[in-house]
Amino acid sequence: MKVLFVSSEASPWMASGGLGDVAGSLPIALRKRLIGCRVVMPLYDSITQEYTDKMQFITSISVPVSWRRQYCGIFEAKLNGVVFYFLDNQYYFKRDGIYGHFDDAERFAFFSRAVLEIIPAIDWRPDIIHCNDWQSALTPLYYSCYYASQMGYENIKTVFTIHNIQYQGKYGNELLEDVLGIAPEYYDLIKYDGLVNFMKAGIECANKVTTVSPTYAKEILDPWYSHGLDQILNQRSWKLCGILNGIDTDSYNPETDKALWANFNADDFSGKAVNKEELQKMMGLSVKPDTPVIGIVSRLVGHKGMDLMREVLEKSLWERDVQYVVLGSGEWQYESYFRELHNKYPDKVGLRLGFVPDLARKIYAGADLFLMPSKSEPCGLSQMIALRYGTVPIVRETGGLKDSITDSGDGEGNGFTFKTYDAYDMLGAIYRGIDAYNNKDYWKILVERALRCDMSWGKSANEYIKMYKSLLK
Ligand code: GLC
Repeated sequence: MKVLFVSSEASPWMASGGLGDVAGSLPIALRKRLIGCRVVMPLYDSITQEYTDKMQFITSISVPVSWRRQYCGIFEAKLNGVVFYFLDNQYYFKRDGIYGHFDDAERFAFFSRAVLEIIPAIDWRPDIIHCNDWQSALTPLYYSCYYASQMGYENIKTVFTIHNIQYQGKYGNELLEDVLGIAPEYYDLIKYDGLVNFMKAGIECANKVTTVSPTYAKEILDPWYSHGLDQILNQRSWKLCGILNGIDTDSYNPETDKALWANFNADDFSGKAVNKEELQKMMGLSVKPDTPVIGIVSRLVGHKGMDLMREVLEKSLWERDVQYVVLGSGEWQYESYFRELHNKYPDKVGLRLGFVPDLARKIYAGADLFLMPSKSEPCGLSQMIALRYGTVPIVRETGGLKDSITDSGDGEGNGFTFKTYDAYDMLGAIYRGIDAYNNKDYWKILVERALRCDMSWGKSANEYIKMYKSLLK
């Protein structure tokens, strides 16, 4: 079986979030299980030289973008047994960053079409084309409308995975013919609520639609979570399923991670205390081994639960002996909230505004508890990374958080959870976490249990393989 995995980002080449992590690790897990899997992504200008040095030019083709044809260079590199293709067009991709340009619709329509055009040129015909999020959601549409009956393209199946339904690629109808090159008879496949909607096209045209946790697959059928797409998803629910993400357990390994001050594992986690002490020093907190440190590594935006934090974190500092370490950036209102909290309690609240992967790892390893009270969370990777480093998650029961974390109230779980999106319910879970921390013998059991959780791709990679096979029957 051959799977072409299509993504607008993939770690370590270029990543801005969870999609990049998944595209950088699931294909490796599939390859290890002897599935032919290759990845294709745009060649961004901001990919660092360390990585562009690994790439080799193969050939160039031209790709139709409506009535124009655009140059597309194809580069290739191999990493951890997986072949990655990089599609070059300087007009579209020689820009700062990945997203956020005025013509993103055209840039990713080009990318989605180029993915199909390169197939004869790379001489590798996939059985499955697996697209991810709105940036590659037009590939299934182009395939079914313009390629399925062309020689060399017959019987390819397409899969579309929703990593976050909030970002759909919605644009005005004026793009349809001139930019996207879609003929009027196909408008219904991409129009939704009077607009062009890339994600809707993926849902409509792919043979299978998946999302990144079983609970999120159910949630997005409900208007509270669906950002308007529940109607089409309910109509197509027969082809929708959820498969929980894994994490790259080689990269996130407390035994070998070079970002840590001391390495540790489930058999001997004394090194965790060293990381905690150094983290407290580095973040300017009072160095107290017996005060629980709660880590927060997140975009500082509303749907990650920042509004709940703003309501009660200060109260918790008054009522309990606890410290917070916060890393992230986002909306101004939450950045300034954390800045104020840090200024008021500098020995209790450590803050770094920004995206600092090395510090993130130090927090995962050095904190005792990890707070992630998202309003919605398709899968969430941070809670899994936290577990991998023996840091016990406090989460709201939604999406992948619900599928990966169970409350330890019954003596079996691996974290602390709450149901309703309510600041005081969250505070209750935080306090249960702090109380558990203060019971030293119980806490050791919890940390060891966290360290022994299997967060690898193993089980989920097998589920993807089963799903691919079901399409090829
Ligand atoms: C998106 C989601 C996140 C998920 C990630 C990878 O970033 O918001 O929950 O873990 O994609 O699938």
